[in-house]
Amino acid sequence: MSPELLNGLLEGLHAAQQGLRALLHLLGLAPDAHGQPAWPFAHRIAAEMLVVDAGHARRVLLSLLCVAGAVLALLLSLPWRRARVALGALAVVLLVIAPWPQAHLLLSPAVPTSLHQSPTRFEATGIVRGQAVYQQHCVRCHGADGRGEGPDAAQLAQWPPNLNGALLWKRLDGELFWRVREGMHNRAGAVTMPGVGDAVSDAQIWEVLDYLQAHAAGQMLRESGTWDRPVRLPAMAVQCRSGRARQTHDLVGQRVRVVVASQGTPPAAEDPRLVTLVAGTPDAGSDVECQPQGSPDTRKAIDEALALVLGVPTAELPGYQLIVDRGGWLRARGQPGKAAWSEDDLVCRSGAAPMAASAPLPIAAPAPALAAGTDTPTDGLHALIRRMDAEPVRLVRGGFPH
Ligand code: HEC
Repeated sequence: MSPELLNGLLEGLHAAQQGLRALLHLLGLAPDAHGQPAWPFAHRIAAEMLVVDAGHARRVLLSLLCVAGAVLALLLSLPWRRARVALGALAVVLLVIAPWPQAHLLLSPAVPTSLHQSPTRFEATGIVRGQAVYQQHCVRCHGADGRGEGPDAAQLAQWPPNLNGALLWKRLDGELFWRVREGMHNRAGAVTMPGVGDAVSDAQIWEVLDYLQAHAAGQMLRESGTWDRPVRLPAMAVQCRSGRARQTHDLVGQRVRVVVASQGTPPAAEDPRLVTLVAGTPDAGSDVECQPQGSPDTRKAIDEALALVLGVPTAELPGYQLIVDRGGWLRARGQPGKAAWSEDDLVCRSGAAPMAASAPLPIAAPAPALAAGTDTPTDGLHALIRRMDAEPVRLVRGGFPH
């Protein structure tokens, strides 16, 4: 099955599931749980299996087509009396020949919050609050570095997983939320991870999940030099010269370059191809295109969130640059002291297909020779932007497009 067809199937199933939940909510059959309509069933569609098992995906698609054909035949038979018997027979045949997928591949166990979406918008201040929750409630098992080697880990029946890899991206947000809140069990029913229950608010659970994701992204970048799972720019309030944007969300649709300034460094040259957002501590009174807004504490939290996704200590942050694509995804990183951009700086190359994230990364083409002025359309930034726009990010969570 082609990646486009598979994407279409996943998107269709995702929309159908969300639509069913909305309909049941409207009918009063899906009451609210933790602020959003609950998923009332014990199972949901296992999108993960469709992604990894092409034969299964094909069977699901063909079965859906057979069901659609059978429904169509039955609908036609209502007004069309003379063909009723033939159409009825056709419907039966279609249902019999459908290559029904196996139920255990089609469905996976669900919880009431399975389809919940995080309400946080990946806010920088929330990520930093989430870090404090992590220190208080999670670090003793999961460890300060998230690898699962906290001081209490050795006494557990099961070793906590390394949270710095792809694990978080393989799960649905709502199911992570549920596991943190309600805890986890092994097959024998014994508790493997205790839930936080009411000790931590719902908002704090969403924030700790954002922290885990920001931290995992930074560790991934440190270890492999790439963000092989996509991460967004941590959201923040901004103040821009044009006066139009008030939040980084308002900048979605434009490419953004984030520059971490420090006192005494010359101001970042602006570029018409990107909105320049100057974080860190620029010299007082410097005229910048956009800057984060908020109290000194908020600005400190913004720097901390940026340091987390970059996987560097906050003290080493000045001089780093980031390029955010039109969808709000972090795509390129510029290290301190570098003079010009090249395609090699594209550290998130996640392509459009759901499988792309696990497929081998394309080998970066050698950087084109730099023309004298960085503004000419043949410079490294130009090549980087062209590549970034040609390979948009599509986030996949638990196999579903997000
Ligand atoms: C008492 C030790 C302990 C504490 C405290 C703890 N965890 Fe865990 N955690 C575990 C273990 C063990 C597992 C693996 C459980 C399993 O797979 O059955 C786990 C698994 C996880 C997972 C992976 C879930 C998945 O879908 O596979 C996440 C995410 C997680 N913990 C987050 C947290 C967060 C956030 C906190 C703090 C609010 C926390 N944990 C507190 C021990 C702990």
